Amino acid sequence: MLNTRAPRGTVDILPHEVVWWHHLKNVAEQVCCDYGYQEIVTPLFEHTELFVRTSGETSDIVTRQMYTFSDGSGRSLTLRPEGTPGVGRAYLEHKMYAQPQPTKMYYFGPMFRYERPQAGRQRQFHQFGVEVFGSDSAIADAETMLCGVEYLSRLGLRELSVQVNSIGCTGCRPAYREALISYLKDRADTLCEDCSRRLAANPLRVLDCKNDRCKDASRGAPVTLDYLCSECSEHFGQLRSVLDRRAIEYSVDPNLVRGLDYYTRTVFEFTSGKIGAQSAVFGGGRYDGLIESLGGTRTPGVGWALGLERLIMVLRSEGIVPPPRKQLGVYILTSGQSAEQGFLLTEELRRSCVSAEMDLLGRSFKSQMKQADRLGAKFALFVGEDEIRTGQATVRRMQDGTQTSVPLEGVVRWLATQLTEHDARSDDK
Ligand code: HAM
Repeated sequence: MLNTRAPRGTVDILPHEVVWWHHLKNVAEQVCCDYGYQEIVTPLFEHTELFVRTSGETSDIVTRQMYTFSDGSGRSLTLRPEGTPGVGRAYLEHKMYAQPQPTKMYYFGPMFRYERPQAGRQRQFHQFGVEVFGSDSAIADAETMLCGVEYLSRLGLRELSVQVNSIGCTGCRPAYREALISYLKDRADTLCEDCSRRLAANPLRVLDCKNDRCKDASRGAPVTLDYLCSECSEHFGQLRSVLDRRAIEYSVDPNLVRGLDYYTRTVFEFTSGKIGAQSAVFGGGRYDGLIESLGGTRTPGVGWALGLERLIMVLRSEGIVPPPRKQLGVYILTSGQSAEQGFLLTEELRRSCVSAEMDLLGRSFKSQMKQADRLGAKFALFVGEDEIRTGQATVRRMQDGTQTSVPLEGVVRWLATQLTEHDARSDDK
């Protein structure tokens, strides 16, 4: 039998919930405009190799979470598990480095990861992300983070905690890696299966493993900040100084390493205690080697992405609601004989940019009136046979029930003017 449920880990966003999505995107567009980011839309699938090279061969994403398939020509393609590699590829492919730098872009869209679904974790989820290429200044790191802070603040949210760390660069990280491996080696038999495997290839990941045994093992482990070279140390110091001067509350978490291989220097997360185990709402950092790993010249970069489903969970937990849906302008009531005339008026209203609806089910006047109420119409326009005969329509202002007789010929213009005044009055309130 046909399975009519959405695939596991995916959800339908129903018409009554879509208002959230419009709101989150509208506010994102305004903030990105104020911060000088432009939107980029990249394909939902990319060559598999792109993710292997960037997100990293040893990352969870590449080792077990990718939706990979062969197309008709035998190419290996992967539904994007994250946005950063595709945006980096587009930056290189379209030679954006040849334009004045930095290049600041943002994106909105679905990502796909084969993970065990739970609250705040889906197999198809949505991210809003920003990426900045071409600046290695710590102020660029601060700017991207503050763009995220501003976004949350415009949504009415102030409760997320911010963690930052620096994981160094290709110059200083090898020494740290060695120190960490030698510390963890002595405790290797207590590590979880994944971490035992990771130990040689990607020991930093042991630090953010959620398994209690691994947490115990890494307690007291050397921390990245003690191994930073002077440039990385200065970079992190400047980031902290800007965040301090902007009075952003954050904590330095020496165990924050993030799960993607491309990160260098700054890494950060914004978390919430209100949405259960999947508490990271935002994650990001600097990736100065990403473009080079794709064959380009060394180009620094920094960015973040947030999960929109998790953000909505946090907003809901704070009692924040999206702005109400725009109210219907006019509901046109007709009788069987006047339906066509009513429909032409409905269309004329819509062509004048007035939202208008009419009955399509042959309902009685009484139930049409109920429907006008249900839809929250500002005006009801009666176009019955009598109105057509006399050329005078009756208009009811739904708010207070006052009725006016208006010549049918000029009723569209009259309603458009009334609605403009109505909206201006509501804006004043
Ligand atoms: P990420 O930490 O893997 O980073 O994901 C960013 C955010 O996406 C997470 O904090 C979370 O809110 C959301 N997210 C991730 N996986 C899921 C899931 N299975 N279900 C629901 N939400 C999820 C990245 O993706 C990097 N590309 C971020 C970045 C941009 N770094 C630099 N630039």
